Order: sequence, then structure tokens, then C-alpha cells
Amino acid sequence: MSYRIAPSILSADFARLGEEVRSVIAAGADWIHFDVMDNHYVPNLTIGPGVAQAIKPHCKTPAGTPVPLDVHLMVQPVDALAQAFAKAGADLVSFHPEASAHVDRTLQLIKAEGCQAGLVFNPATPLDVLEWVIDKVDLILIMSVNPGFGGQSFIDSALRKIEQARSLIQSTGRDIRLEVDGGIKVDNIRRVADAGADTFVAGSAIFGKPDYPAVIAAMRAELARGR
Ligand code: DX5
Ligand code: ZN
Repeated sequence: MSYRIAPSILSADFARLGEEVRSVIAAGADWIHFDVMDNHYVPNLTIGPGVAQAIKPHCKTPAGTPVPLDVHLMVQPVDALAQAFAKAGADLVSFHPEASAHVDRTLQLIKAEGCQAGLVFNPATPLDVLEWVIDKVDLILIMSVNPGFGGQSFIDSALRKIEQARSLIQSTGRDIRLEVDGGIKVDNIRRVADAGADTFVAGSAIFGKPDYPAVIAAMRAELARGR
């Protein structure tokens, strides 16, 4: 299994965002997770396409290899912003099915922009919609907190949902990433991987600590450990 660590810049220092993105990539980040909140779908307000465009040039390793910009939309409606983020440089665009009136259409829009498309499932949202659209999905994102804020505690029922999502992915035989977002720390990442996740969002666990390389290395050591 190839694991990816996706630091969420929600917990970064917004006054030094480009530098924070470069530091966390130098520390070993595989993706940059970008949380978009609209004070409507979720009770918080964050950053828009202009900020995505501004940090895009910083999304590369010191050797110049591009690092994917993973945009998590917590907005309603979805379509216009999904297109705006695609044009701003997003590589992956994910949205919550409850927030789109026409989930299939939104997935098609994102893919038509040349991005990978993801669906995000809140703690109380079942995976049912995947039955009809999994052929258009490149990423399944399981929320292990209620969306809106960094620094919340991991909700254990997410583990069962990750297991369900992993068996669905296996039944398709397609290469679909299974990402988990919320309350991921060094001390629970192994459990989340054992449930079937391959991509781990972590905000406060990384940006809340002074030594980003040490946290990412500790996460990778946990992932490398056998069961
Ligand atoms: C929550 C966001 C998360 C958040 C995770 O709505 O989607 O990406 O930043 O933060 P931590 O890792 O601190 O729980
Ligand atoms: Zn997120």
C-alpha cells in the first residue's frame, strides 16, 4: 500500500502561507490539503480560489517535483466554486454530496476541468450515493470529525465506514484513493490505516508542532509498522 500524508493548511500560519507550504513539503508532505469553508454549508469561513492560485507555485518539492493541491470544498452550492478552484490550479477537487443538487453533474464538471474528483462523507452520512457514481470518483474522503474546524477529536465510527469504503473500492477494481480527514495524529494513524485508508489529512497534528519533519517521520514510522 502506498500511503500519502496530506497536511491541512487550515492550521498553518496564514500570514506566511507560501513559506508554510514549502516547509511542510520539505518535511515530506505528499499532498497539500486545502480546506474551503463558506459559513453556510459549515459554520466557518476560510480561503478562496485566489489563495489557491497564490500558493500553487509553492506546491513543489525543493527538486521541483509538483505536489498535488487537494481542495476540499465545504461549500454550497458547489459547481461554480469547483470550476474556479480547478482554474486556480487544484489537482483534486472534493465535495460533500449533500451540498450539490446534482452529484453526477458536479463530478462530470470537475473531471471536464482536468481534475480528479472526490466525494466527501460526513460522520453521519452513509456511502449509498457511491453505488451510482463510483465510476466517476477518483477519491473517497471519509470525515472523522464534523467539518468546519481543525483540532477536533477523531470519531471512532469513521473506522467502520473506512472499512466499508475499502471493500467498495476493491469491488470496482479501480484505482480510487481512500482519504481520511479529522483528528489524525501519530498515535491513531496506524489504526486508521489498518481500517483501509491510504491518504491521511492532518492539520493541527503537524502545523501545531514546531518540528514538521519529526511529526511526518513519526507518522510514516507508524504506517511502516506491521499490524
Ligand atoms: C475540517 C477540515 C480538516 C481539518 C483537519 O473541517 O476538513 O481538514 O483541517 O484538522 P485536524 O487534523 O486538526 O483535525
Ligand atoms: Zn479537509
